[in-house]
Amino acid sequence: MVLPVLSALLVLPFLVLAHPTPNSDGPEVVKRSLPSRWYQERGHPVEKLFMRQTEPTDGVNYPAIGSPQWSQGYPPVPPDPTQMPQEWTNALNAAVNAGKIPNIPPSTSTNPQNPTPVYEGVNPGDPSVCSASYGCRAPGDIWDAPNGTIGISFDDGPSLGSDLLYTFLEGNKIPSTHFMIGTNILNNPTLFSRAFQELHSDIAVHTWSHRYMTTLSNAEVVAEFGWTMEIIKNSTGGRLPRYWRPPYGDTDNRVRAIASEVFGLQTIIWNHDTLDWSLTTQGGTTAEAINASMTQWLTGPKSPGLLILEHELTDNSAQAFIDAYPLISTTGWNILSTAQMEGQTVYLNSKDGLSPVQPFNGVLGAQYSNTPTTSSTVVPSSTAPPPAPSNTTANSNTSQSDKNKNGSTQSFVSKLAGVLGGMILTVAFYA
Ligand SMILES: *[C@@H]1O[C@H](CO)[C@@H](O)[C@H](O)[C@H]1NC(C)=O
Ligand SMILES: *[C@@H]1O[C@H](CO)[C@@H](O)[C@H](O)[C@H]1NC(C)=O
Ligand SMILES: *[C@@H]1O[C@H](CO)[C@@H](O)[C@H](O)[C@H]1NC(C)=O
Ligand SMILES: *[C@@H]1O[C@H](CO)[C@@H](O)[C@H](O)[C@H]1NC(C)=O
Ligand SMILES: *[C@@H]1O[C@H](CO)[C@@H](O)[C@H](O)[C@H]1NC(C)=O
Ligand SMILES: *[C@@H]1O[C@H](CO)[C@@H](O)[C@H](O)[C@H]1NC(C)=O
Ligand SMILES: [Zn+2]
Repeated sequence: MVLPVLSALLVLPFLVLAHPTPNSDGPEVVKRSLPSRWYQERGHPVEKLFMRQTEPTDGVNYPAIGSPQWSQGYPPVPPDPTQMPQEWTNALNAAVNAGKIPNIPPSTSTNPQNPTPVYEGVNPGDPSVCSASYGCRAPGDIWDAPNGTIGISFDDGPSLGSDLLYTFLEGNKIPSTHFMIGTNILNNPTLFSRAFQELHSDIAVHTWSHRYMTTLSNAEVVAEFGWTMEIIKNSTGGRLPRYWRPPYGDTDNRVRAIASEVFGLQTIIWNHDTLDWSLTTQGGTTAEAINASMTQWLTGPKSPGLLILEHELTDNSAQAFIDAYPLISTTGWNILSTAQMEGQTVYLNSKDGLSPVQPFNGVLGAQYSNTPTTSSTVVPSSTAPPPAPSNTTANSNTSQSDKNKNGSTQSFVSKLAGVLGGMILTVAFYA
């Protein structure tokens, strides 16, 4: 596959940047003037007093998105599998002991010229391994949209292109699924809230730290899924995503089995690739090339339907979708979010972001099963007005909450510096 080759080439040199000191003050280029905002950003102590949960929840009272209580429990990149909840390890061991997880050796991806994972002693194309990086389509994986349908989705958010994209999606009432990176949710809580609470977009899993999943140990795979499921669950009123998309499209029967046996996750890949992530990189694709591909796909046959890989990484990648949308909307396609095109529920325990949420007895549900879920603990909210308006356009630089757990004692300037550092980190690591 071209994508893994190119993207890993570009990503690998930057990997070291993904491990700065957590409280680094970031670059010196900081605006000294106050932002032109009249409301408190999410996570501010005052905002919490007025925070309303408008969506129905599973009865658990989750901390406000972006608050210190919300962010404090999550691990750094990459997550240490020896530090994950015992329930997850138990669930993995039970699945292995039941013979549900194929004993396929982890691949390696060490050659920067060709990062496509390499296997030793097994054939990646064999149905018993079925590496998607080698084009093997396993039964149950979704590569195509239904005939006549275009499934809309965006990967790698929340990120720098999200504000522009969300404004367009909202303005045009376009349904979409966001395959989100767990650490990007942690670093961009306001954008996450916008996607989930304002757009009512569907949220799906794109792993905690965006690595080649087939190169990881079973326990590392569990940690990548588990923390992403957990932050989505704790930020959506208890919803557990049904779908995940592998970074670089890299999965095999072992990773697939862990996804489905331990977490109930189904795999969604794609059948067309815009390469839009490379718009901002030297030697990458161009807006003209994407325009030509999009035109060809959108005006071409309607079976199978279109499942086009797109990103919310930068304004450029968001703009590629925005430019194509007039043609998408006038070529007779049934426009659905990727998570809704199969007719299943978006979440394992809820139809979508607005429907009731059932307490869940999976591995993530189990650890909270002692929490009372009687109706008295439900936040009364269905008739409450929506959250305080927030101008996310004006707010785009300051809305990104930093990861610092002691934010309340930071000066605004050092906070903003941390924010900018975090944004640079995001670009460097995921572009
Ligand atoms: C997620 O929410 C549950 C229930 O409130 C809580 O027990 C758990 O600690 C939260 N997870 C994290 C990482 O904060
Ligand atoms: C989709 O279209 C193809 C080609 O026209 C056809 O063979 C197939 O049966 C269709 N699938 C469904 C589910 O209708
Ligand atoms: C391609 O570019 C042309 C000229 O700007 C524009 O009219 C058309 O809508 C674009 N199509 C797509 C699919 O982006
Ligand atoms: C955000 O920061 C960038 C870089 O400093 C700047 O170019 C842009 O104008 C800022 N946007 C807003 C809305 O302040
Ligand atoms: C949000 O802020 C932007 C930039 O300052 C401004 O152009 C826009 O009109 C504002 N929107 C609202 C709803 O206030
Ligand atoms: C927060 O910062 C204050 C002042 O620097 C310090 O005394 C306190 O221990 C910090 N708390 C945490 C949880 O880091
Ligand atoms: Zn990705």
